[in-house]
Amino acid sequence: MCGIVGYIGDKNCVPILIDGLKRLEYRGYDSAGIGIVRENDAIVVKNKGKVSLLEEKLVEQNLNSNLGIGHTRWATHGIPNEQNAHPHTNSKNNLFIIHNGIIENFQVLKNALIKLGYTFESDTDSEVFAHLIDSFLNKGYNLSKSVQMALIEVDGTYGLAVIYTLEPDKIIVARKGSPLVIGLGEGENFIASDVSAILAHTKQVIYLDDGEFAEVSINNFAVKTIEDETIEKEIHEINMSLDEIDKSGFNHFMLKEIMEQPESVRNSMRGRLQAESGSAKLGGLTDVVDRLINSKRIIISACGTSWHAALVGEYMLEQYARIPVEVEYASEFRYRSPIISSHDSFLVISQSGETADTLAALREAKNKGALALGICNVVGSTIARESMAGVYIHAGPEIGVASTKAFTSQLVVLALITLLISKRKGISKTKAVELATELNAIPKKIEQILNLNEGIERLAKDFQNAQNFLYLGRGYNFPVALEGALKLKEISYIHAEGYPAAEMKHGPIALIDENMPVVFIAPKDSTYGKVINNIQEVKARGGRIIAIADDADGEIDEIVDYTIKVPRTIEMLTPILTSIPLQLLAYHIAVKKGLNVDQPRNLAKSVTVE
Ligand code: AGP
Ligand code: GLU
Repeated sequence: MCGIVGYIGDKNCVPILIDGLKRLEYRGYDSAGIGIVRENDAIVVKNKGKVSLLEEKLVEQNLNSNLGIGHTRWATHGIPNEQNAHPHTNSKNNLFIIHNGIIENFQVLKNALIKLGYTFESDTDSEVFAHLIDSFLNKGYNLSKSVQMALIEVDGTYGLAVIYTLEPDKIIVARKGSPLVIGLGEGENFIASDVSAILAHTKQVIYLDDGEFAEVSINNFAVKTIEDETIEKEIHEINMSLDEIDKSGFNHFMLKEIMEQPESVRNSMRGRLQAESGSAKLGGLTDVVDRLINSKRIIISACGTSWHAALVGEYMLEQYARIPVEVEYASEFRYRSPIISSHDSFLVISQSGETADTLAALREAKNKGALALGICNVVGSTIARESMAGVYIHAGPEIGVASTKAFTSQLVVLALITLLISKRKGISKTKAVELATELNAIPKKIEQILNLNEGIERLAKDFQNAQNFLYLGRGYNFPVALEGALKLKEISYIHAEGYPAAEMKHGPIALIDENMPVVFIAPKDSTYGKVINNIQEVKARGGRIIAIADDADGEIDEIVDYTIKVPRTIEMLTPILTSIPLQLLAYHIAVKKGLNVDQPRNLAKSVTVE
């Protein structure tokens, strides 16, 4: 998920690696490290925190080498600390690896390696690579073959780079689900997870595809598939300048993160969802699942976007798992002497894992004896550490202040928890399989929605001067209305309200005239007919209507002014799809207004004060 850079040539690699890591900093990371080979010695220098800190350490040591790899880590397994930072080495300290991604079957592999006598220094999944490759080297295979054999055993995602002091003329790299490029120079070659890390040195690159690995030496490279088939690769010429690519070619992190959603939601389900059997496996809840299922009540608490995800979670859990759920603003919960006991489960949701109010609510619930659980994105964050058990959403670093991909990943994790509990509580196999199959199909459907980007941008042009917006939805899509309105006000500074569609009649209808754009979230679900009535009420008063509707809904085009069509899914999962056009709409309106989308005024990414 985070950054990789590597060098082989005749120059000193240390400044090249540091420069590359600095160029990868924009991706967000929690620790950094490099590994170099010097006179048959493997030297690893790493630390928690910034690349500048690593640079200071390296200056002190005055290291010089022609071969090295560097990494910025964004923890998924094991807290961010020096030990867990990459590179990881084998016990002989002559092989080191850096890895982006997640090894799903790391526990099984780790147990097997421990049985063979290997000892582990870190809590990461990645360290498995170092010992697994070592186990093949010990059997007499060369480095390239050993890496290939290790890759065959590993399930999950990787961008991987490996160096071995006994074969100091090469770097081996591999890719599955996490990008890897080879940069070609004159008498030198580079490897990176992202061209921005090496663009200062070369514009000629080769992109590895999933399932490929490569041997990179000073003057050469050779690419093969894991099945041993030799691959001829095309050399690409990068025609972007350095400052253009920091955001992978996108103008803003927010857009990049919106566009990443097929992959980020896939990562949230990876290794957890079994579509054929209709089941979910969540390692972080294994020890507490019985207590969770037997809770008299589940309280979900959060702030902002995470609170909107919590509201969707309430609908999911009540409909499928049949456990009463309450959703609380964390800031309100902590100050109103809440009644809570050991019969309750208290689940907090937080992207950053550092939000002060959410943390305080978690502590309060824990003190009162509830089962205190967390759903977080940032590994090792305070909430993740203080909750009794929990689930990471694995959305990858979210840098834009307006939360986008974390929201959809939170919904995916809530759906997985719902599946886990409801399966245990005996929902029918058919229902469970339907839910799991639909969830599995979500990333592809998100891809279809993202293809609407240009149309949504055109739509934004018509609305950039609006002063107010109303967002209306019912049932599962009422929280989406709230989230759509929050996205718009956060980054475009246009006043926007989200409301349950039927509540409009009880007040907000007074605001409607021809100047008021109204966004209806209207997929064909159980509330569709009622929502159409509400649309007619707005239409009768001259409001301009944008509807987020089903692909197959031909009728709605006749009634509303603009439609954005999303693919069909089961009702419970519609928010994952319907929220995405609203992210894009807010984004394009804010861009057209010339605003700072990634860092809107007055807002912080992580609100660590009350
Ligand atoms: C989302 O776009 C906001 N910037 C904000 O509402 C955010 O969701 C809220 O501050 C909670 O943050 P957390 O998920 O990191 O706890
Ligand atoms: N899963 C690995 C870890 O937690 C790699 C994380 C990354 O992609 O940076 O160390």
